[in-house]
Amino acid sequence: PPLGKYAVPSRYLQPHPSNNITPHIASLVGRDLHLRPSHPIGIIRSKIQEYFASLSTDNNTTYTIFDAEDPIVTAQQCFDDLLIPPDHPGRAPSDTYYVTDTSLLRTHTSAHQSQHLRSGVDAFLCCGDVYRRDEIDATHYPAFHQMEGVKLMGPESMIGADGLNDEQWLHSPECQLIEADLKATLEGLMDHLFGPTEKRWNDDFFPFTQPSYELEIYHNDEWMEVLGCGVIHEQVLHLSNRSDRRGWAFGLGLERLAMILFKIPDIRLFWTEDERFHRQFTEGQIVEFQSYSKFPPVFKDIAFWTNDERTTNQDDFVENDFFDLVRSTAGDLVEKIELIDSFTHPKTGRSSRCYRISYRSMDRNLTNEEIDGLQFKVRDETATLGCELR
Ligand code: PHE
Repeated sequence: PPLGKYAVPSRYLQPHPSNNITPHIASLVGRDLHLRPSHPIGIIRSKIQEYFASLSTDNNTTYTIFDAEDPIVTAQQCFDDLLIPPDHPGRAPSDTYYVTDTSLLRTHTSAHQSQHLRSGVDAFLCCGDVYRRDEIDATHYPAFHQMEGVKLMGPESMIGADGLNDEQWLHSPECQLIEADLKATLEGLMDHLFGPTEKRWNDDFFPFTQPSYELEIYHNDEWMEVLGCGVIHEQVLHLSNRSDRRGWAFGLGLERLAMILFKIPDIRLFWTEDERFHRQFTEGQIVEFQSYSKFPPVFKDIAFWTNDERTTNQDDFVENDFFDLVRSTAGDLVEKIELIDSFTHPKTGRSSRCYRISYRSMDRNLTNEEIDGLQFKVRDETATLGCELR
């Protein structure tokens, strides 16, 4: 059974009308892959921390490490403190796992920025598991890990920065100094992880930084985004009672880096308990992952109407609800869910979707009977979304 091994803490499954956390998701919380010294996620985390520790001898910045915060945070921490507006799509229940209407599984480690700033820490790294409702394939999983970094510059960093409008701030020497420090720090981090590597900066947007950038590195003949960052928005500092200072912040995804560095082809492997995976990794070492035999996939299609004739055409189907439902039923045996057909009937206005579900175990051969059983359950459950099976 996909969920059997892990106890599901009931606090994630509160019977609150806003709660959309599935047992599958709840079973992932608390696995703490980033704290396992010889797990690829833990190895990358240590490498990053090692780099920041080495900086402290050069310029006296000591980064405090936070790695054990509760992944359940308030909407205030995750969004409001970071100036993310109430109507931002990332806050919608179709994208975020809510415990209640005001508490949720953090969608990024930035959710902890304000509390640490408020408590007076000037530089820190904050690592943890984050959760986002998303599609399912070899590079997307609804849980992953991030490392956040924050550094406030000395009080002199804002001598001329008070009372500037946005445009003036962007061009001020204070802002440019912080930006230069941010970029040099992160370029150094990439070289520490990858060896000298080609990089480029693109403008980006986050409500909590201004200006904002993304960093890409050139890997396998393509540019890959590895992190988002920027100069912390004045208002974020103000809300944390740190108006006297300015600084930078970044957030990077550990899975993305680990997949490149260890050549791990599928994001679900990070969550396996298979010894053939774990025995390949040792604390402090980056080695190339050797794929063990891949077992064959089993494909099953499911087609359904998402609205009916009587309510004429109003369609409330939320694709992420369907993805979560499939995962809750079949767990990590689901490798991929693809929309292979969709159309709207010209006369009745009814909409139909057909998805192909690929089932595959990374550890064993699946039998057709077992998957038929799961597929029947998926079909039954889909009917509870208000869809009519075809
Ligand atoms: N929290 C952002 C994300 O998850 C990344 C980020 C962190 C951007 C800090 C700017 C500053 O995409």
